[in-house]
Amino acid sequence: MKKIRIDDLEFEYYLSEQEIEEAIKVVANKIEHNHKNTFPVFLAVLNGAFRFTSSLIRHIDFPCEIQFVKLNSYDGTQSTGEFQNISGLNIDLTGRDVILLEDIVDTGNTIEKLYDLLKDKALNSLKTASLFLKPDVYDKSIHIDYVAKEIPNKFIVGFGLDYNQKGRNLNDLYQLKTTNMLNIVLFGPPGAGKGTQSDKLVEIFGLKHLSTGDIFRFNIKNETELGKQAKAFIDKGELVPDEITIGMLQDAVNNTPDAKGFIFDGFPRTTAQAESLDQFLTSKGESITTMLALDVEENELITRLLERGKASGRADDANEDVIKNRIAVYNRETAVVQEFYEAQNKYKGIQGIGTVEEITERLSSAINLVNA
Ligand code: AP5
Ligand code: MG
Repeated sequence: MKKIRIDDLEFEYYLSEQEIEEAIKVVANKIEHNHKNTFPVFLAVLNGAFRFTSSLIRHIDFPCEIQFVKLNSYDGTQSTGEFQNISGLNIDLTGRDVILLEDIVDTGNTIEKLYDLLKDKALNSLKTASLFLKPDVYDKSIHIDYVAKEIPNKFIVGFGLDYNQKGRNLNDLYQLKTTNMLNIVLFGPPGAGKGTQSDKLVEIFGLKHLSTGDIFRFNIKNETELGKQAKAFIDKGELVPDEITIGMLQDAVNNTPDAKGFIFDGFPRTTAQAESLDQFLTSKGESITTMLALDVEENELITRLLERGKASGRADDANEDVIKNRIAVYNRETAVVQEFYEAQNKYKGIQGIGTVEEITERLSSAINLVNA
């Protein structure tokens, strides 16, 4: 995940320039369709809307005028709600069709004030187009006629929007990094030591250990409906279907609202699970901090699991064919999840051969680096 720092705050990548441009084009086409015969005036609200305006008008072919106007609208991350007047307006708007261009509408204070100030100018019509709208916090009655993109209530910078007047030049959009949790995906093939190391890391970092394998085994032992659904897959060394596993994992996270963070052990095991975990954590204002992948060669995995199978009572440890199938399933369906986290710069490989203590030390060092 690309990150940037502006002054005291850290922001993480949120939307690409291309996604924003595509959304603007859709809005521009609607405006074109509705206003092509009205010779409208676009009032672009500085500073933020300069970038939106320049992208929007590239798609507008009909005759129009553009004015850049200004309000003292906010300071830092919080809307103050105090505005003076419109500056920069040097044409007569009487009888004109006006389209306000805003970079973002959050609580709607700016829009409300602008409507108020323009009310006595005898306009023919007044419409509003906003690059972004935060529907969760917008609490005014004025209808925003054109919205390129609705976004959650997060502070954003880039594509014309700023923090302390900085960051307007960023082509992509970034959102304030609010995550306080330390969320680790402990990755690796069957027998790599995920469970063993999770127990150690829980003690060191005070995290909640969530092993989907352990949850399934608990449910199998207690003969729950979930256990019955999962048993046949697990006994053969196959993956339990995503629709069962994803819901179960989300319930487990929701059941621990006070966790400082999680060690996800054995999840995500497919790209679909990884995507759902990202969306789920994002909806909570959280994210995965890092994926640590234990690297152990296949012969060692088989030796470890056969050895454990003598006493573990785990059906999937009981014979070498099932163990080999688990490793094959890992290579075929799970190993690819690494790429998902590599693309976000969150992947770190860890040598998984050595004593348990040595490997704990390697993992702890890697966690301390990302958690600094
Ligand atoms: P799960 O329980 O996750 O099993 P696994 O991934 O196959 O891994 P293990 O738990 O066997 O190994 P581990 O890496 O935890 O290693 P451990 O520390 O135990 O999943 C089981 C099944 O559930 C799956 O096959 C699937 O069917 C289903 N499932 C689970 N999650 C799912 C999901 N997300 N989607 C779909 N299906 C899912 O160590 C292994 C042994 O090695 C131990 O005996 C240990 O003492 C020993 N050992 C550990 N470290 C060392 C060391 N450094 N040196 C020597 N020995 C060591
Ligand atoms: Mg395990």
